[in-house]
Amino acid sequence: MSKIQDTKSENEYWSKRYLDEQTGWDIGYISTPLKEYIDQLEDKNIRILIPGAGNAYEAEYLFNNGFKNTFVLDISSIPLNALKKRLPEFPESHLKNENFFEHQESYDLTLEQTFFCSFEPNKENRTLYAQKMASLLKPNGKLVGLWFNHPLSQDNKRPFGGSKEEYLGYLSPYFEVKLFESCFNSIKPRAGNELFGIFIKK
Ligand SMILES: C[S@@+](CC[C@H](N)C(=O)[O-])C[C@H]1O[C@@H](n2cnc3c(N)ncnc32)[C@H](O)[C@@H]1O
Repeated sequence: MSKIQDTKSENEYWSKRYLDEQTGWDIGYISTPLKEYIDQLEDKNIRILIPGAGNAYEAEYLFNNGFKNTFVLDISSIPLNALKKRLPEFPESHLKNENFFEHQESYDLTLEQTFFCSFEPNKENRTLYAQKMASLLKPNGKLVGLWFNHPLSQDNKRPFGGSKEEYLGYLSPYFEVKLFESCFNSIKPRAGNELFGIFIKK
């Protein structure tokens, strides 16, 4: 079993990051690329999952814009409780305090942002991610989001990076690539540093 499948230790690690306020990934609002992608969606009934959602500002945006089948999943209950406080109308049953690798439902769309890059960057973890993401999608379901395109740092610290070619090596066995390019509308601190992708489950 990979460490990322060990729910107890992963929950402890991430919950401690929240308790210690070591949450450098948290930008405090919906990122522009996700917002602009959401703004062009027409069908508000689709089932959407945000895995490794953290404070899930995109879930709040989706819900407030009529996407009532939005689900938020995180291994730590801390950010889920924070979302509940910010948005008490968000249905409790749509807050999934689970390990992504054990989740068993199916969706039309999953949204990625700084989740992939949070796993230790080895072949096993990255393959598990791609397989699991595909298994959570309905046929023709979409995985959409952002992947850092900086190389793995020397000190091997999160966020763990990668290259377009490397990501494609993991994702293309399970997904058709609709788009995977340098992101043109990143938030300023991430400009030039991330790829935006739309992948369709094979
Ligand atoms: C780097 S943070 C990113 C949070 C959020 N996506 C954002 O952009 O602010 C990674 C998140 O994934 C969650 N996480 C890590 N491993 C997980 C797993 N196996 N299952 C579910 N959530 C997980 C952590 O608790 C944390 O909230």
